[in-house]
Amino acid sequence: MRPRLGGSCDSPMGGVNPTPMDDIIFPHQHILGIEGMGPEAISTILDLSESYVDLNRGRDKKRSDLRGRTVINVFFESSTRTRTSFELAGKRLGADVINIAVEASAINKGETLLDTAMTLNAMHPDVLVVRHPYSGAVQLISEKVECAVINAGDGWHEHPTQALLDALTIRRRLGSLAGLNVAICGDVAHSRVARSNILLLHTMGAFVRIVAPPTLVPAAADRLGVDVYHDMEEGLKGVDIVMMLRIQTERMRGSLFPSQREYFRYYGLDVEKLKAAKPDALIMHPGPMNRGIEIDSDVADDINRSVIPEQVEMGVAVRMACLDLLTRNVIANFDEDGSAGGNT
Ligand code: NCD
Repeated sequence: MRPRLGGSCDSPMGGVNPTPMDDIIFPHQHILGIEGMGPEAISTILDLSESYVDLNRGRDKKRSDLRGRTVINVFFESSTRTRTSFELAGKRLGADVINIAVEASAINKGETLLDTAMTLNAMHPDVLVVRHPYSGAVQLISEKVECAVINAGDGWHEHPTQALLDALTIRRRLGSLAGLNVAICGDVAHSRVARSNILLLHTMGAFVRIVAPPTLVPAAADRLGVDVYHDMEEGLKGVDIVMMLRIQTERMRGSLFPSQREYFRYYGLDVEKLKAAKPDALIMHPGPMNRGIEIDSDVADDINRSVIPEQVEMGVAVRMACLDLLTRNVIANFDEDGSAGGNT
């Protein structure tokens, strides 16, 4: 069933809650990836996020739209900023939010993952926010539960809310994503952030190139529709955005570059290499940063060009928008036929 949205949300605090963009249609029950999401759905999330940026900058940050709803953050992999960001997002919207950190040692068997999903499902959450080290695990969970599921990063596969917050950061700075040249640099092979960003940027009409040593270029680079460079100065020539990635040593088998010093020399972003980009090019990094390995502090902390703290700020707003849209869908489905609706 295609989720349908109701009109205004009645506020349990009394009166009609002026939820922004009351009549939007968001045609997804889950947010599992950017793949399969069209430009309208992406724009809907970004537009709604804008209103939450304003709310988060104000004094009273609390709303009651999600009062009575339960959000469970289930992290099978460590995280600080993404988990905190989802937790804040849920709490600012008035939901009850709980965090569950599952030790990696407890997830060796497929049954454990599904058992966990079934156990959580029995507690009637409205949204599960899941991070998992295996690609595809979050989708599997979404097929077994009745609530909405948000992928907070699965293996090397996708990290959709990171790409959405990156898009919001860029859109607010440069007006639009269409026609921009974006260089995604570093450990692209192991990066779910890169994959989600490539999909989103292409969907919104930007041009993407990746800059990485041959050992850190994904095997399927040609199918991603990106230009591949192995030299930073070549790859950064004339770009509007330089998006750096963390070296993901925890996902590497064996050594894929000679040494951290060597890596920084050839692929670390510093003032010198940045000269190849447009003079006002923005610098991005999803965090956590390895300073002195993929990025030099002089550029990471450049208050005019680095938008790294802004990315964190946008993360809360984007996650509020995602929680808001997915829970509206659940409400609309219940309104229509008394059931929770299909898994699309
Ligand atoms: C990213 C992730 O976990 O994929 N970080 C994040 O969401 N804050 C990128 C990374 O870990 O390098």
